Amino acid sequence: MTDKPLAGRVAVVTGASSGLGRRFAHVLSDAGAAVALMARRTDRLDAEVAAIVAKGGKAVAIPLDVQDVEAIGPAFDAVEATLGPISILVNNAGVGGDGMAMDMSVETFDQTFAVNVRGVYFGAVEAAKRMIASGVAEAGEARIINIASIAAFNQLPGLSVYCASKAACASLTKGLAREWARPRIAVNAICPGYIETEINADWFHTEGGQKQIKGFPRRRLIDEDVLDEALLMLAGRRAHFITGTLISIDDGQTL
Ligand SMILES: NC(=O)c1ccc[n+]([C@@H]2O[C@H](COP(=O)([O-])OP(=O)(O)OC[C@H]3O[C@@H](n4cnc5c(N)ncnc54)[C@H](OP(=O)(O)O)[C@@H]3O)[C@@H](O)[C@H]2O)c1
Repeated sequence: MTDKPLAGRVAVVTGASSGLGRRFAHVLSDAGAAVALMARRTDRLDAEVAAIVAKGGKAVAIPLDVQDVEAIGPAFDAVEATLGPISILVNNAGVGGDGMAMDMSVETFDQTFAVNVRGVYFGAVEAAKRMIASGVAEAGEARIINIASIAAFNQLPGLSVYCASKAACASLTKGLAREWARPRIAVNAICPGYIETEINADWFHTEGGQKQIKGFPRRRLIDEDVLDEALLMLAGRRAHFITGTLISIDDGQTL
């Protein structure tokens, strides 16, 4: 096994400006992939690209608001023009959509589904068309990895809209895996438990958040790097027999 198992591959990571997406971009780059980092906060993307390039990696920053479906195609065009045919898409961009039902605004509801569901779906469709056209799919290298959540299978407190959006993300993962089985595009999802990032840090620093952590069987949050192996496995060349799989990594938080 080479220490650069993804050498020659081109990966897109959405929501790469912070948290898990930032980590995924580094992990894929460290494994040899050229990486396109997408998000709205371009200053942060530029800083991550500089950090990757400083390590000897190849990366570009591409601004994208995944709510803007019309912008997805041109963003992917920019990736292919600079890095070459895309073979890995990590559909990671996501928003918390938190709030109790009695206080939920239509704007928050719509934004949650526009990012966590619609953005994932049309990002996947855009990637799949290109993976087929470029021959990447035929070569058995096409991977779409959606970042769902344990929220897909559980009702988390105060997060009914987020949970519904992640259940939809998990369902789309299986639906697209089925639809694209024959063209050989592998579509899978990683479903993490709670990891402290900007999406939830405020909550976990409250008394309620600390109480929630004490309620987990291991009384802790998950370390950010725990997802690395699952990501690399699903992106790897040997994973073309894995499709429609939802991998939960939750430290037993839902037991
Ligand atoms: N942390 C956890 O405990 C946990 C658990 C399970 C699943 N997840 C999922 O993991 C993913 C990453 O979350 P995180 O924990 O790393 O949170 P985070 O640090 O808040 O990162 C969210 C990322 O999504 C991007 N994003 C949000 N709206 C976007 C939009 N409209 N267009 C493009 N990018 C957008 C943000 O970038 P910009 O604001 O710069 O656009 C940011 O890079 C999400 O899908 C989340 O649901 C997280």
